[in-house]
Amino acid sequence: MQILRTVAELRQWSREGRKSGQTIGLVPTMGALHAGHASLIRAAAASCGQVAVSVFVNPTQFGPHEDYAVYPRTLEADCALAEAHGANVVFAPAVEELYPTGAATFVEVEGLSSRLDGASRAGHFRGVATVVSKLLIAAEPDRAFFGQKDAAQVAVLRRMVADLRLPTEIEVCPIVREADGLALSSRNLYLSADERMRALTLSRVILETKALVAGGERRSGTLIAAALETFAMEPEICVDYVELVNWATLEPVETAVPGSLFAVAAWVGATRLIDNTILG
Ligand code: PAJ
Repeated sequence: MQILRTVAELRQWSREGRKSGQTIGLVPTMGALHAGHASLIRAAAASCGQVAVSVFVNPTQFGPHEDYAVYPRTLEADCALAEAHGANVVFAPAVEELYPTGAATFVEVEGLSSRLDGASRAGHFRGVATVVSKLLIAAEPDRAFFGQKDAAQVAVLRRMVADLRLPTEIEVCPIVREADGLALSSRNLYLSADERMRALTLSRVILETKALVAGGERRSGTLIAAALETFAMEPEICVDYVELVNWATLEPVETAVPGSLFAVAAWVGATRLIDNTILG
């Protein structure tokens, strides 16, 4: 697998691909790749002639007390996984390549960035929008692939791409889960066996909410109260948020309509996990 280290190399790779008539796909990741990332890479390879996977643990999206220093870094295995699922190159820059000394330019998607995960992780979406805009400007992809797993991130990035009129289509892929329902996440590696079991509460809440909606319940208050009740049965879990929102604006809605986002975040021990469903 070819590893590109600089923005200039990535841009040249992309321009050569386009010159030879191929569409360019980009899958941004922070590495520690798992089957969720693999599904994005496969989707990209299925619809683009050339696919780059970026592997970059982005310092600006981590808060001062978050896990930047210990975030898993497994580049060799990531390259093998990316290649096996159809990527053509991996872009793995050093921090100074994306943030040159004295870097002072940030992308802020106002409003959206302080909702859901942005409410408890100040500055997180500013970091995400900044690094993804750098990646999109460098790779000039026709399509960039993201997971619905990070549904608020998708909303922020859709707004950013629209506002900056970037010529990249944002493609969203479904949440990949373990057989027992747990949404795959690089942070699942932090869970002890006991926490791994408790973590299933998140996907259980999502399943129960879908069942309630399928049964005709549409009221936000009722859906959220039911979810909080399920969480309350697992006292070792600390809920961050349970919300029913418009997926584009991340504003709360009173009544679920098709396309509404029901999203949860919770601390299981020291690990913060998220899950969601787009209601039918
Ligand atoms: P990371 O957490 O590595 O995730 C990279 C992509 O994989 C994201 O679009 C995420 O939604 C998707 N993904 C993660 N788990 C998934 C799952 N279980 N099913 C489907 N897709 C899943 O998200 C980031 O990195 C960063 O914020 C990034 C966009 C790369 C910017 O630094």
